[in-house]
Amino acid sequence: MSSKLVVGNWKMYPTLSDSLILASTFKRSLEDIQGVEVVLAPPTAWLVPIVESWRHKPQHVSLAAQNVWPNDQGAYTGEVSAYMLKNIVQYAIVGHSERRAYAGEDNDLVHQKMQACLQWGIKPILCVGENKKMIDAQGNFDDYQLSKVTEQLLEGIAAAKQDNFDKVTVAYEPVWAISANQSATVATPEYTLQVISKLKERLIEKFGAGPSQLVRFIYGGSITSSTATDFFRHPEIEGALVGGASVKAQDFLKVCQIAAKTS
Ligand code: PGA
Repeated sequence: MSSKLVVGNWKMYPTLSDSLILASTFKRSLEDIQGVEVVLAPPTAWLVPIVESWRHKPQHVSLAAQNVWPNDQGAYTGEVSAYMLKNIVQYAIVGHSERRAYAGEDNDLVHQKMQACLQWGIKPILCVGENKKMIDAQGNFDDYQLSKVTEQLLEGIAAAKQDNFDKVTVAYEPVWAISANQSATVATPEYTLQVISKLKERLIEKFGAGPSQLVRFIYGGSITSSTATDFFRHPEIEGALVGGASVKAQDFLKVCQIAAKTS
């Protein structure tokens, strides 16, 4: 079985000094946690200071951008392109629900961002997820919600050539389960498995089984060290996109340890 992927999405939480402390703690501690692939996504402005502070990084630790702009250079005030980030990050989060909600990103822009990442050798982490629960208590799917998530997936991934599907990670993040502080609103592993299996079916219908099986599926939405084991014990859930808990060093390291043990 291949290693799980644990992505820490620091969002806009840490200051520069917080970020440098987190980066140095993770670099030191992750040397001892092998058998897991870890990706850290600090705010864009702190990427270069982190790279400079690290000099060398453990091989199984990478950096990600939380966002990229598809055009290489030009009059795009406030944006940073995949082209500009290509020597700084190995991964990029693309189409996160917070960007879809607050910055109005649609599937077309997400498609272009996926294309730019792949063109410049950055592995995209394509986020997809429904706003409202799509499976009811009887196990029935809400066709509308499923079709929305399927569109996000297929339009995003169509930017990749099929022999590049192994570079693509899909982060299934039900929007209603992100930053949830009550356990009742957190998605269960069973729910996640059902959705991932539907999404894989759709991928196979469109692109065939060969390329589709190269795509890695991870889960995101209020993952902490207390919930990680339940998700990671399923081989179909190949990792996690961790938000809030990723800036709590000890909790995030525990998530990485659990991932290493269940890989
Ligand atoms: P959360 O965020 O773990 O804080 O729910 C996950 C995400 O938004 O990527």
